[in-house]
Amino acid sequence: MMLSVKSYPMNGGEGQYSYAKTSSFYQQGDLDITRHSYPKKSPKKLDVKLLCSSSNSFNIADLGCSVGPNTLFGIQNIIQSIELTSQFQGLNVQFQVFFNDHTSNDFNTLFKSLPPGRTYFAAGVPGTFYGRLFPENSLHFVHSSYAIHWLSKVPEEVADKNSAAWNKGRVVHGGSKEVEKVFSCQYENCMEKFLRARAMEIVCGGFMALPSSLQYQMEQILQKARWLQLLILWVLA
Ligand SMILES: C[S@@+](CC[C@H](N)C(=O)[O-])C[C@H]1O[C@@H](n2cnc3c(N)ncnc32)[C@H](O)[C@@H]1O
Repeated sequence: MMLSVKSYPMNGGEGQYSYAKTSSFYQQGDLDITRHSYPKKSPKKLDVKLLCSSSNSFNIADLGCSVGPNTLFGIQNIIQSIELTSQFQGLNVQFQVFFNDHTSNDFNTLFKSLPPGRTYFAAGVPGTFYGRLFPENSLHFVHSSYAIHWLSKVPEEVADKNSAAWNKGRVVHGGSKEVEKVFSCQYENCMEKFLRARAMEIVCGGFMALPSSLQYQMEQILQKARWLQLLILWVLA
């Protein structure tokens, strides 16, 4: 069931060049959006009572969590928002947070940095989010920030000198239509896998939030989600 893939994790630990020390700069602004918009939006849209009808546990997954302040900041915002909603609906909910990333992610540092007074249970889920990670109908809220633009692999054609899509050894695509096309196909392929897996794992009426500043990417995801008739996608761009 689990796929095995090459992974390139962020720098672990807490040193000068670790992701924990360098990541907040460019993403905190976007994640700040979650602080402002989750609490405002969720009371109206999320029926916590219905979602947690068989237990009072509310399951959240952070896909491609890495390690550092962003990880904890995003989860804190979601929990605050759901707490607000559940209080509003007269419920006492217990939170379970699943932190997912590739197996090579520095989960040790992540677990050490979990706030001692947190109001959620925490667990690590290793593996690629382009495959199934959770049982069917087990998640209420999926959050993934700045991670789904990582493709599962580099398309073979860009490294093949005999292909029209050969990218001359470059990492970025530099203007050729053929190169753009194979990357775009790869992206579509990855997104389909991502959405199919989440469609199985998220309960009916659950939520998915994908904070990112990549508008084009979001439009493509929404199109795919509609095609798959996947629950409501709540996207913050
Ligand atoms: C730029 S970091 C973002 C981390 C964090 N979510 C944030 O907002 O700061 C992207 C993370 O996604 C993870 N990632 C990339 N592809 C993945 C995949 N297929 N499955 C699970 N994690 C993946 C990487 O290992 C990395 O930790």
